[in-house]
Amino acid sequence: MKNLILLGPPGAGKGTQARTLCEKYGFVQLSTGDMLREAKKDETDLGRKVAGIMAKGELVTDEIVIGLIEKKLTNDENEIGFIFDGFPRTLAQADALGNLLDSIGQSLDHVVELFVDDEKLVQRIIGRFTCSSCGELYHKITKPPENAGICDVCGSKDKFNFRQDDNEVSLKIRLLAYYRDTSPLIGYYHVLNKLRKINGLGSVDEIQNNIRNIIK
Ligand code: AP5
Repeated sequence: MKNLILLGPPGAGKGTQARTLCEKYGFVQLSTGDMLREAKKDETDLGRKVAGIMAKGELVTDEIVIGLIEKKLTNDENEIGFIFDGFPRTLAQADALGNLLDSIGQSLDHVVELFVDDEKLVQRIIGRFTCSSCGELYHKITKPPENAGICDVCGSKDKFNFRQDDNEVSLKIRLLAYYRDTSPLIGYYHVLNKLRKINGLGSVDEIQNNIRNIIK
């Protein structure tokens, strides 16, 4: 088994790369952002509690996200490995992940940092939308559906979603949270000799190949 963290600011391409790695190689994607959005959609107590925090672009509490990951790690069947996307985001979350992996007899193999400059991140985030049926990611300019209004992957004509926090005001707060709370993890994993840096500005396939070279 190989367990991998994709680390990077909003719009670095963590979700895009995690989805492809899961489709191609059978990894299990654990995205705390997706889990929290799911809870919001299903109108659970948790969803109601975190909705305002997420819309503003602030971080949800460590206790909540660690609880979500713990549930998945102890319940999900998996023989290939986990890709952590958007988790950990604080030093407390990183410590908790190490302990959780220990407790199930596993370890962390690699932390891949995707770096992209802020200006590009803003362009990516502001144009992003997803298919509401299968979750495929699109971008208004760089990756529109081949036929307008129809998902390339599942053919759904249902609806495309824009995220509530994908606006310039929330994005500024998300970037601030990244540099303040999450970027210390770069040093944390460097010291543990797990960190690998990848330029997140190439094509999706180029970046995918670079990640594959690290994990093979
Ligand atoms: P989360 O959902 O994790 O959002 P994020 O970290 O801000 O990351 P994004 O999903 O915005 O970006 P991404 O790197 O996945 O980029 P993507 O592949 O989509 O978290 C949302 C919120 O939930 C947080 O703000 C917080 O409130 C809460 N939360 C979640 N986890 C938490 C935690 N652990 N602790 C506390 N709170 C937590 O790509 C973006 C766009 O770029 C797409 O349109 C895509 O098509 C395009 N693109 C991707 N790659 C390329 C490329 N190579 N070339 C050109 N375009 C590209």
